[in-house]
Amino acid sequence: MPLRSMLFVPGDAERKLAKGRSSPADALILDLEDAVAQERLPTARGMVREFLLAHRERSAQQLWVRINPLGTALALADLAAVVPGVPDGIVLPKPDGGEEIVRLGHYLDALEASLGLPSGHIRIVPVATETARALFRLDTYGACGPRLAGMTWGAEDLAAALGASTNRTEAGVYDDAFRLARTLCLAAAVTAGVEPLDTVFTDFRDPAGLAREARAARRSGFTGKLAIHPDQVPVINDAFTPSAAELAHAEQVVAAFAAAPGAGVVGLAGKMLDMPHLKQAQRLLAIARQAGLAT
Ligand code: COA
Ligand code: MG
Repeated sequence: MPLRSMLFVPGDAERKLAKGRSSPADALILDLEDAVAQERLPTARGMVREFLLAHRERSAQQLWVRINPLGTALALADLAAVVPGVPDGIVLPKPDGGEEIVRLGHYLDALEASLGLPSGHIRIVPVATETARALFRLDTYGACGPRLAGMTWGAEDLAAALGASTNRTEAGVYDDAFRLARTLCLAAAVTAGVEPLDTVFTDFRDPAGLAREARAARRSGFTGKLAIHPDQVPVINDAFTPSAAELAHAEQVVAAFAAAPGAGVVGLAGKMLDMPHLKQAQRLLAIARQAGLAT
């Protein structure tokens, strides 16, 4: 199942948990980290576990959990509390590199074995750009094994980590450090062969701005985007679902090459097409097939 939209839901917010389940988000991220106050964490762990246990049918919507960073004393207790509910995956904040995926994988190996779950069932998505050091180490994710399902990036914690007072320029666009983080995350995910997922758009009352940012992310190569409010989900799903016109064009490109066996370059409607165009068309059709939009 593709992960076009992943909606953050604070793990201790009953109404939001219920509302999230009725949202068309491809996945929820039940949060135990930044959206939960420390003193509420024990309550949130119990609520997330109960929510997971109450919603075992995941074919229409996966349920992921964001735990606390592995460098804190909280992470193991988070995992011990939620893994019995069999989350589809764990979102790992603030890792410094791929070795943290390996370490989390070992914890999950042990917990899965103790619960009789299939080994490797629980996948991992890191928020891979939340520390300064992490920016230099994004090439370490290629070798961290099959639990890695995707990679996303964060601009809020990175600003705090860098000592930046804001992540935007005066013109309102991401400043250089954050654009770099976005691009490195994209390249790292592609290198690792996993889904590149764009970060949150925090202005949840600006659907037009969100649509622009989501379309830009898709043009860049991202295959999905994180959400923080249910109203953002349809906008994101729409931006990451190939349109009928895009699919028709991709089919024409594939057909043009099929009709010219051995050709490295063909013409279609007065435009030159070569191998990168064929690859893009094939990739679009593969995404569409995954989403059940093409055969
Ligand atoms: N997931 C599920 N439901 C949500 C939601 C979310 N992330 N955000 C809002 N809702 C629900 C509200 O509970 C409300 O439902 P109700 O009408 O049944 O009470 C409805 O959607 C409308 O909410 P609204 O009033 O527009 O927003 P708000 O002011 O209540 O909440 C935020 C705004 C930002 C606090 C909220 O969207 C939120 O908690 N987002 C997630 C934050 C998070 O997890 N951050 C960590 C990752 S960056
Ligand atoms: Mg954060």
